[in-house]
Amino acid sequence: MTSTLITGIGELTTNDEELGTLTDAALVLAGSRVEWVGAAARAPEADERVDVEGRAVLPGWVDSHTHLLFAGDRSAEFAARLAGRPYEASGIAVTVEATRAAPDYALVANLRRLVREAVAQGTTCLETKTGYGLTVGDETRAARLAGGLVDEVTFLGAHVVPPGWDADDYLRLVCGEMLDSVAPYVRWADVFCERGAFDADAAKEVLTAAAEAGLGLRVHGNQLGPGPGVRLAVEHGAASVDHCTYLTDSDVDALADSDTVATLLPACDLSTRQPLPDARALLDAGVTVALASNCNPGSSYTTSMAFCVATAVLQMGMTVEEAVRAATLGGARALRRHRGEGAVGVLRPGARADVHVLDAPSAVHLAYRPGVPLTHAVWRKGRRVR
Ligand code: NIG
Repeated sequence: MTSTLITGIGELTTNDEELGTLTDAALVLAGSRVEWVGAAARAPEADERVDVEGRAVLPGWVDSHTHLLFAGDRSAEFAARLAGRPYEASGIAVTVEATRAAPDYALVANLRRLVREAVAQGTTCLETKTGYGLTVGDETRAARLAGGLVDEVTFLGAHVVPPGWDADDYLRLVCGEMLDSVAPYVRWADVFCERGAFDADAAKEVLTAAAEAGLGLRVHGNQLGPGPGVRLAVEHGAASVDHCTYLTDSDVDALADSDTVATLLPACDLSTRQPLPDARALLDAGVTVALASNCNPGSSYTTSMAFCVATAVLQMGMTVEEAVRAATLGGARALRRHRGEGAVGVLRPGARADVHVLDAPSAVHLAYRPGVPLTHAVWRKGRRVR
């Protein structure tokens, strides 16, 4: 097992309660794990030594919400939005048609391209969802193809009711044959609880069936207007409720009293011309907040977690520390990967060796220099990938 000493770290964000943020620091990676963290002057020897010359180091981004298994392009829909047309869930059917028609190799090539793009910008842990197949065969195919290429796969058969289907019949299919077929390939199930997608009763059925099948739960909620998504997510013990663009005070209170993470997707809100979520209200109430890219061809076609962090700081009232934490440890909590051996979103002995070196002396530069590619080097599971 090869060990690597990363030294000369100007500012090291560990996200570990005891270690905190260190200056003049060093890290030792051994195999796929972090072995040692501390002052550069006390660093042990290792097989290899990399001096990052005063740069800032963070845990790799944890992007806990993406939809990367798709084919096709919806730039015309985006352009229509710029001209004033509202975002509607019905656009999803366009990607469903293109995805169903695409051969496996094309879907895998597109997924690999987006993963490479994300990793090159410092993302080291990625979740992705099915949801552009919406038949038993196409959903199972998506889950099977995504497994092994990303860290976590989520079943989103309950994305929209596909054209030509009766809503009750489709719900039965999702909660029955489709769930049975996809479950062996995924850890999570999700439901898009929104007008034009699944209402509260339908979402409840999906969450109940998925929990009975042994899957962890996630919810797309309160994206396009106030609604029951947050409440349902909390009631069902979902790990995360994602979007949270329109929240009532009682939604915030419910989240604050729960273990459900509020995952905010600011790139999506900008792309769909929605307001940005009230991150401050969530944080002040003690809610765990995550930031994720929601990369997909319809509502948020970006893999840039740095863009999400800069937006959160510049426009959502989050401090740099809060935004960086939300995009690393917050995502890890949303995926229930923040604890124990191999934890992500944190740099401490035993954590996964996922390291992001910025070409900047401090994390403040992520907001101070928005839009500038600041990734200098990336290690994922102890291997240098950039
Ligand atoms: O999270 N909201 C539902 N699903 C995706 C959008 C998918 C699409 O428009 O293709 C989202 O924004």
